[in-house]
Amino acid sequence: MSAPAAALQRGPAAVELLDLHPVAADMRRLVVEGLSRSPRQLPAWFLYDAEGSRLFDRICEQPEYALTATETALLEREAPAMAAALGAGVPVEFGAGSARKVSPLLEALAPPAYVALDISSEHLAGACRALQARHPAIPVLGICCDYSQLLTLPAHRLLDGQRLLGFYPGSSLGNFAPSEAVALLRQFARLLGPEGRLLIGIDQPRAPAQLEAAYDDAAGWSAAFARNLLVRLNRELGGSFVTERFRYRARWQPQQGRIEMALVSTCQQVVEVAGRRWPFAPGEALITEHSHKYAPAAFTALAAAAGWRAQARWADPSDSFSLHLLAPQAPGRLEPVEASR
Ligand code: AVI
Repeated sequence: MSAPAAALQRGPAAVELLDLHPVAADMRRLVVEGLSRSPRQLPAWFLYDAEGSRLFDRICEQPEYALTATETALLEREAPAMAAALGAGVPVEFGAGSARKVSPLLEALAPPAYVALDISSEHLAGACRALQARHPAIPVLGICCDYSQLLTLPAHRLLDGQRLLGFYPGSSLGNFAPSEAVALLRQFARLLGPEGRLLIGIDQPRAPAQLEAAYDDAAGWSAAFARNLLVRLNRELGGSFVTERFRYRARWQPQQGRIEMALVSTCQQVVEVAGRRWPFAPGEALITEHSHKYAPAAFTALAAAAGWRAQARWADPSDSFSLHLLAPQAPGRLEPVEASR
């Protein structure tokens, strides 16, 4: 993320987009690394090219994947209380996607600006323009970047002297391994500063059958989302994947407290990608992502290990999903890194 921010384009009056060019550099190396592992596994952010982002939006509409509807309802119900607890500042949304969830908060906060960070530049541009049309009084800054690598925000007049309010909905933290999640939360703490706050959505463990259905919906959008990764590798790294030779699998792993999503080879095959040949045995998995689930106490322990203290929690009526409000701990109070589940 060392490249300086370059103004990509200016849209209607109050939308500005900066592109930190996050993707191109390391993709080949990461693919070689990931496919060399046992089991093979690629970084989850590879799933989000323009088509992947579109497919993910479809997943969010599926009845089995209740997470989005649950979190949206919670935000709609509690936004005034959340805004009061957050206080004044500029919301900075990590992995904004379609940037729809933040609307009730923007209405309640009436902030001087809103910042959306996302890895998919096309999707981000569309999301920022749509958001601006819904909230014409709020200037919008979209920053195309890999937020997991972003150490500071680029200097920008909309951010000058502002308190920063991190917003990280969707339980996206769950797509990182717990140790990576702690590192990411630490990085957010540094980026948001001592006056910052973080409002973060976290999905909780529940019945395995319910979770497995959420990640393998009957309409097939979850499978299409995972398979699109192979299409992307074919297009961008000269891959020869035949998508029909991989079946999609989502399974709950109780020991790790996570759903594992994978594409499983249906036959003996050799695939070329990133300039190498990769044999796949029948039944061999390519893990596309993990989604960790945290009970509230486990999450607050994880956050404490990263320098945050829990200030408030809002949950849906069945207490399956929470939005946690975190504030920085006083300096020198870092907890041990391992969080219990
Ligand atoms: C973005 N993230 C929080 C989703 C999840 O629930 O782990 C990604 C996802 N992949 C398939 N379905 C949902």
